[in-house]
Amino acid sequence: MNERIHHTMGQQSGRRSWAEPWKIKMVEPLRMTRRSDREGALAGAGWNTFLLRSDDVYIDLLTDSGTSAMSDRQWAGMMLGDEAYAGSRNFYRLEQAIQRWYGYEHVVPTHQGRGAEHLISQTAIRKGQYVPGNMYFTTTRLHQELAGGIFVDVIADEAHDPADRSPFKGDVDLAKLERLIVEHGATNIAYVSLAATVNMAGGQPVSMANVKALRELCSRNGIRLFLDATRLVENAFFIQEREPGYADRPIAEIAREFCGHTDGAWMSAKKDSLVNIGGWLAVRDRTLFEELRNLVVVYEGLHTYGGLAGRDMEAMAIGIEESMQDDHVRSRIGQVRYLGELLDDWGIPMVQPVGGHAIFLDARAFYPQLSQDQFPAQTLAAELYLDSGIRSMERGVVSAGRDPATGGHHYPRLELTRLTIPRRVYTQAHMDVVAESVKAVYDGRAAARGLKMSYEPRYLRFFQARFEPL
Ligand SMILES: Cc1ncc(COP(=O)(O)O)c(C=O)c1O
Repeated sequence: MNERIHHTMGQQSGRRSWAEPWKIKMVEPLRMTRRSDREGALAGAGWNTFLLRSDDVYIDLLTDSGTSAMSDRQWAGMMLGDEAYAGSRNFYRLEQAIQRWYGYEHVVPTHQGRGAEHLISQTAIRKGQYVPGNMYFTTTRLHQELAGGIFVDVIADEAHDPADRSPFKGDVDLAKLERLIVEHGATNIAYVSLAATVNMAGGQPVSMANVKALRELCSRNGIRLFLDATRLVENAFFIQEREPGYADRPIAEIAREFCGHTDGAWMSAKKDSLVNIGGWLAVRDRTLFEELRNLVVVYEGLHTYGGLAGRDMEAMAIGIEESMQDDHVRSRIGQVRYLGELLDDWGIPMVQPVGGHAIFLDARAFYPQLSQDQFPAQTLAAELYLDSGIRSMERGVVSAGRDPATGGHHYPRLELTRLTIPRRVYTQAHMDVVAESVKAVYDGRAAARGLKMSYEPRYLRFFQARFEPL
């Protein structure tokens, strides 16, 4: 057993248990509701779980974004906030943490991931250029499109099949990418947009072999490779577990090696890095950095705070280090898997293999009687809430939005409802409640009638759209 890797107690003894490497110091009471309360709340929210008040929610699995519990070290760090407008000491701590753990030299802080996506898209995309990526992410693609880019999905086909159990369903299909380069010419490709893990595919990882090959292909064609590092730590866990040659390497080393194949990254620190707010953008190229550092003052704030308080940057610097520890990642993904195994035992249809941050229920398989125009995944999220006050999120036709060229719906092959597990927040008993509720909704699936959309906002419609039952 490699002494450099922090194995859980269970693993040290050759057992599969994954208990958390922390104990609970402070608790936040939850409110129980009755079914009649939930019916009223859901109707008031236009059948959209994003529009519910959190006081009306029992177990909140809407997202793992900004919902994690901070450690005592992070809370202590909040008291060390240097709230100077310029040159806050917490910025330099954050910069050092990013340089050390991710390996990029030049750092620009932003208030969260989409702030960084905005800056990189405006800086690195010329109108009409293509932006190939391993499946779209909602805010990422929108910023690329708002900058005049044309997103093209070059993920491996397996990613679109929920039942396919390939170990690295986040990999880029290099042949698809090469075809795009040949068809349009390398100068018409802004950059390759690589996410690790891939949220919309079910939290599926990218292999080290794939990012290496991608680097080679990009370098050969003079194309930049930028990484969405939002859940890179979880991606590194899967490489350690599944890719030959990495079993004895600490997660932190694997993550840094992965970044080493890319030209820069943007980050929503609200996920891996265990903070409630924060993000960054980091690149190797000095000229690009100067442009980004100039643009950040227009949209986010001065380049040494980027829309964050000093205390937020301190919590992020500490969170980055905590997030890279093997025992932390192991228990984080262990909990997601625990829920996945319960559901699998009951034959519940979901994306396989279970990914890093969430269980993605296959709403098409739940409700074969509903077409995508009747919003099966939105319906499933509503039914789960009605059953037990659990809040989940639609990741199907509503999230996919409309094609800017035709104005029609995008119809993604994946029509999923996401049960996202915040880090260090819920217990195993909560996971049992969730599994039982999913089972109850699955047992009642034949009665579902679907929804129609009664209000559709212009951008990122899944956040604010309203629905009515059919
Ligand atoms: C993969 C990925 N990229 C980018 C973002 C955007 O980050 P933020 O929500 O912090 O703006 C998210 C957030 O959910 C994400 O999951």
